[in-house]
Amino acid sequence: MLIIKNIKELATCAGEIIPNATVAIDGEKIIAVGKSSEISARKGDEIIDATEMIALPGFVDCHTHAVFGGSRAKEYDAKLQGMSYAEVQKKGGGIHYTVQETRKASENELYASAKSRLEEMLRRGTTTVEIKSGYGLTTVDEIKILRVIRRLSESEPQDIVATFLGAHTVPKEFKNARETYVDLVANKMLPRIAKEKLAECADVFCDPLGFTPEETEKVFSKAESLGFKLHIHGEQTAHFGGAKVAAKFRAMSLDHGDYLDDDDISLLKKSGTTVVLLPGVLMHCMDWGKTKLADTVVKLKTAGIPIAFATDYNPGSAPVLSMKIIMDLGMRLFKMGVMECLQASTIIPAKVLDREKTLGSIEVGKQADILLIKAHSVADYLYQIGDRHFDFIIKKGKII
Ligand code: NIG
Ligand code: FE
Repeated sequence: MLIIKNIKELATCAGEIIPNATVAIDGEKIIAVGKSSEISARKGDEIIDATEMIALPGFVDCHTHAVFGGSRAKEYDAKLQGMSYAEVQKKGGGIHYTVQETRKASENELYASAKSRLEEMLRRGTTTVEIKSGYGLTTVDEIKILRVIRRLSESEPQDIVATFLGAHTVPKEFKNARETYVDLVANKMLPRIAKEKLAECADVFCDPLGFTPEETEKVFSKAESLGFKLHIHGEQTAHFGGAKVAAKFRAMSLDHGDYLDDDDISLLKKSGTTVVLLPGVLMHCMDWGKTKLADTVVKLKTAGIPIAFATDYNPGSAPVLSMKIIMDLGMRLFKMGVMECLQASTIIPAKVLDREKTLGSIEVGKQADILLIKAHSVADYLYQIGDRHFDFIIKKGKII
């Protein structure tokens, strides 16, 4: 057994902070959590003395686009000069540029670059990652990306959840044939991906830059019938109807949500959909003042809708791998408290990924994904801006 003892403060993320705590791990699982006075080690146990440290569950990043080719660093100059995310995309840059570079890249090249991103994420405490396709936009290239995700899930220590995002944007070659592309996604790509079991979830970018609510419904109807769990990029650059579609299909999550209105919020409450906030996008796109997201957060909380955070790690709108930086931003932009930020980065995203029974908190019976770091307290760890390396990262009961 592995015993972590004398933990200064342990945030279970199931709702409590335990001072002077001990955790006992047998194999991959947590078998005891409590006060150090209540749990003792036996002969032969491996022991970590965490006297100066706090313990947190491994972070769960429930929204990333970590497999892609090329770099969009150059287009940021145009953004700094005032060009918007939408304008960049309309000029043929943005997602289209990444699609071009991803199509050019081989499976091995995509695997190698994504692998190093996942290693960086792990160092920053992310032990579970969702990854979307969506930069291929042909059957062959979408499958290439999903195969890379499958390889990563076999080789990397993290738990990885694959999502098909063929409906990310209408590719240039279908500019005048949107319907044909939507049909391709729904009736060719989705069945093929289901057959090869390459993705567990399906996502659509429902936005003026992506797909209309009607097109989203076409993709969702098919995806639902094939057994995919549904997610949506919705209400990001305009109020466009994505939340209504998410509610109608009881999607697991609505992500972005910059322009959610009161009707949307009551519908999402009824459908049990979690809202995933992506503060890294607001920062990188310099959209700080664009929306009243802090007010929306108050309304979501009042309605009792769970809020998750995610990096949305991608080459264009959020080049940020760190969940700690996301919490730093989320705390300040949305005025969320310490426990709210921690739960938004652990147990709630685990629920978004349908993994809340096994991941996302330090509780008996759960997988032992635990982070240890020297800190004054859990509150002070969050209060300090920026991420530091962890003293210990434990994944599935193993010290990494
Ligand atoms: O989640 N909104 C659409 N998709 C991504 C950005 C993709 C890109 O810019 O490459 C997002 O923000
Ligand atoms: Fe995204």
